[in-house]
Amino acid sequence: MTEQADGGAIRNLVLRHISRRQLLVSGSILVAAGAVGCRPAGREALEFRGIAPSGEDRVIVADGFRSDVVIRWGDSLKVGSDGLSMQGVLDGELLRPGAAAAQSESFGVSCDGMGIVPLDDDRLLLCINHETPEMGRMFPGWREAIRAREAAAFIEQNPDAVAVMRASVGVSVVEAEFDGDRWRVVADSRFNRRVTADTPIEFSGPAATHPWLGGDPATGQRGRCLGTFGNCAAGSTPWGTYLTAEENTNDFFGNGDNAEFEPLLLRANERLGLRAGVSLFRWELVDDRFDHAAHPAESMKFGWIVEIDPRNPDRPIKKRTALGRFRHEGATTVLAADNRPVVYMGDDSGFEYFYKFVGDRAYDPADPDSADQLLDSGTLYVARLDDDGSGEWMPLVYSEQGPLGPNNGFESQADVVLRCREAADLLGATPLDRPEDVAVHPIDGRVYLACTQGTQRGLMRPVPPDSDEEPEPYPEADAANPRGPNPYGHILEFTEAPYASGTGGGPAAADPTAIRFRWEVFLLAGDPSGRGLAAEATAGKLSPAVAYYAGLTDSEGLAAFANPDNLGFDAAGNLWIVTDGTQPDGNNNGCFVCPTSGPERGVVRQFMSGPVGAEISGCTFSPDGQTLFLTVQHPGAGGSLEEPTSHWPDGGDAQPRSSLIAIRPADAAARFASSMS
Ligand code: FEO
Ligand code: CA
Ligand code: CA
Repeated sequence: MTEQADGGAIRNLVLRHISRRQLLVSGSILVAAGAVGCRPAGREALEFRGIAPSGEDRVIVADGFRSDVVIRWGDSLKVGSDGLSMQGVLDGELLRPGAAAAQSESFGVSCDGMGIVPLDDDRLLLCINHETPEMGRMFPGWREAIRAREAAAFIEQNPDAVAVMRASVGVSVVEAEFDGDRWRVVADSRFNRRVTADTPIEFSGPAATHPWLGGDPATGQRGRCLGTFGNCAAGSTPWGTYLTAEENTNDFFGNGDNAEFEPLLLRANERLGLRAGVSLFRWELVDDRFDHAAHPAESMKFGWIVEIDPRNPDRPIKKRTALGRFRHEGATTVLAADNRPVVYMGDDSGFEYFYKFVGDRAYDPADPDSADQLLDSGTLYVARLDDDGSGEWMPLVYSEQGPLGPNNGFESQADVVLRCREAADLLGATPLDRPEDVAVHPIDGRVYLACTQGTQRGLMRPVPPDSDEEPEPYPEADAANPRGPNPYGHILEFTEAPYASGTGGGPAAADPTAIRFRWEVFLLAGDPSGRGLAAEATAGKLSPAVAYYAGLTDSEGLAAFANPDNLGFDAAGNLWIVTDGTQPDGNNNGCFVCPTSGPERGVVRQFMSGPVGAEISGCTFSPDGQTLFLTVQHPGAGGSLEEPTSHWPDGGDAQPRSSLIAIRPADAAARFASSMS
């Protein structure tokens, strides 16, 4: 390593995992920023001054921009419904019979990932996930019941709370119109609707007729289920639908230890994180659909990518089983040069994998009805990242002779997609530090994956106090996860192999259907100045105090950030990052941005700071590139109705409410970067 490479922001970086490949490639880590091909020349304009991090209980955006609340938890989505009254919530209205009806006609809680389907320039369908119930925000007395370990008694005494929770999660479809000044919800839109944990949904794809999903392989009858929940990140498709990702669905089912599972079902559920005893939300106490002991296979109906057509409310909602069952973080869809869809997906748990689905059928804009089959046939792949910076997408395909066959208990492709994590284990996929959202560069097709954190990496697994078991280590830091433990997360950059000559996409353009790729660590989050983190460094390991911003050696002006979760791109190719976790400086979560090319590649600036207790999510631009929609999820987390720790967005002594915000230029000099300058 050169003297130069030891200096600046990376002076402490034990770069064996980042630089080894770069040294092999280039002879010097300092030219690593030029190692990725297909990078356009020119500068991606980001014309704003970064803000300072903040712990204030408000949304702060960069000078020249303004933020408006578009819709809040409980705001009505239906003419004739008043939505939820926050005073009523405080008075216990959501514990009373019938309260679920009002919630099911109102914007849900805990808004998370989103997608946009435009109707025209000024009218958008905003599709927004509602990840989990926020019980402390919804029910007076809940926090006290938790403290007293009486949550089960609370639910048994207030059984209507479960129906309210089922109505609070899922998805909202909201029509919004720009009135020349701001985005407003169209109150009487025929598109406004809620999809909840009780909405009928069909299965499609290779596992649709599997008995675990309620199907019948003998007759070809497809399974159906009620609802979607744990909806985390998401994305819209080029054919105008919305994909919502079911993530921590295991949290919604209890009594895994009481169920009489068939062995393969048990294995599948265990691999996803089967809960013994009570579930996180206790729905099983009053609704045995969520009780493994009563319905051992019900949980298999969750953990899928769900496709919703927001422009056609009567069209069936479908869970696309070809895309596999795991803890889906999100779904980011692009079209290859031949119009076949490619969907990139993370599986958000420690030491899980990065997947992509490549469809068999090409999208035909002249035949929109055919789009209904685009995600039902194709190949699901999982990524292996090799230490030398190359990598391979390995097909998760049933084969009678191969590892994904009868030798390992797989009898069909349905088994492979139902037990996707097990299949990926057998192929030797690369475990990553909680792979979350994916964004694809709009110009050159590079793919960015947020690995939000790896707090266990390099540590010993805990052993129960009276156990004779020998403690075993979690995996060590490695090339793709270069820090152990990794409290702040990192972002990986992938460049798919180019199209074969003459097959479209232009010379050297990245082919999203490719089997091979190159990869590198783009950002290793943290505080690039190294301030204040030394106490968390672990002797003998790559220090958590180290940050790495695309090879930059001067930490001056770089914003500290941690726990990248959702990602987005503006049209000019700047990567937008929103965070969910404890920030290195102890301030609130926010929204950050950096160019991915040119001299400012990796220069991370903070654009927005959220209110107390909130994570920031969503992160989607309007089609004209001049509105950034963000969701502010669970402001005041850690507080309760009785003891609120935030009053955002309404201020004063109001209760905090998860809300969607729109950020726009506020003066003539401000603009989001919308094209190369
Ligand atoms: Fe729901 Fe992975 O965040
Ligand atoms: Ca997420
Ligand atoms: Ca999150």
